[in-house]
Amino acid sequence: MRPLTPPAVAAYLDGLSRLPHPVLARIRAEGLAAGVPIVDPLTGALLHGLTRAIGATKVLEIGTAIGYSTVWMATALPSSSLLVSLERDQTRATAARAYLAEAGLDDRVNVMIGEADRYLHKLAGPFDLIFQDGDKTQYGPMLAKLAPLLRPGGLLVTDNILWDGEVVPGFTDRPHKNTTDTAAIAAYNAALAADPRFTTSWLPVGDGVAIAIKLGAGD
Ligand SMILES: C[S@@+](CC[C@H](N)C(=O)[O-])C[C@H]1O[C@@H](n2cnc3c(N)ncnc32)[C@H](O)[C@@H]1O
Repeated sequence: MRPLTPPAVAAYLDGLSRLPHPVLARIRAEGLAAGVPIVDPLTGALLHGLTRAIGATKVLEIGTAIGYSTVWMATALPSSSLLVSLERDQTRATAARAYLAEAGLDDRVNVMIGEADRYLHKLAGPFDLIFQDGDKTQYGPMLAKLAPLLRPGGLLVTDNILWDGEVVPGFTDRPHKNTTDTAAIAAYNAALAADPRFTTSWLPVGDGVAIAIKLGAGD
């Protein structure tokens, strides 16, 4: 597999990064050992910075896994904030809850177990930031539900928009990803790029991150 970021560059940037909480190192180690897909540390740091920069106090995450990205964002939130994180895998959600409690962040994070789709219509927005990192085939269909939950000026951040480069024509000789997921991400990227409700930045950080700013009435 051809890396999106040269390994020496990734290692150099990792070396410059500071963890906002030491538990992140253990969650990452567990994720890597158990084959749980979690964001790249540079993506985690980006999420932390964005959350802090916009002064977010209400955040929604699709796909908690064992809480790695959740902790990156929660450590950027004031204690009176709310981060709702949705995870359909009970074992992973339980592990995430334990890590969040250990880090003293369970006062501001609510990990809800079940299909995200089942919760979305029950959630009271608006959210300042939504992090989409769930089922890749749901990225497109879920966009219509997530956009109204975001405040004007809020951020829809999406991970895996490059999918090991497999959405990029000619980048990979031997694709190894599920082709249904690859097609779904490519379609989502095209839809988000054309969506008049958002202006989007496309970053080759980690596995590719899209930062879509929801436009307001005056934009
Ligand atoms: C890529 S992992 C999330 C990683 C996590 N955001 C992190 O970086 O630490 C995706 C997770 O989303 C969960 N998931 C996928 N689709 C979902 C859905 N529709 N509703 C709830 N959870 C979902 C999966 O069970 C999986 O644990």
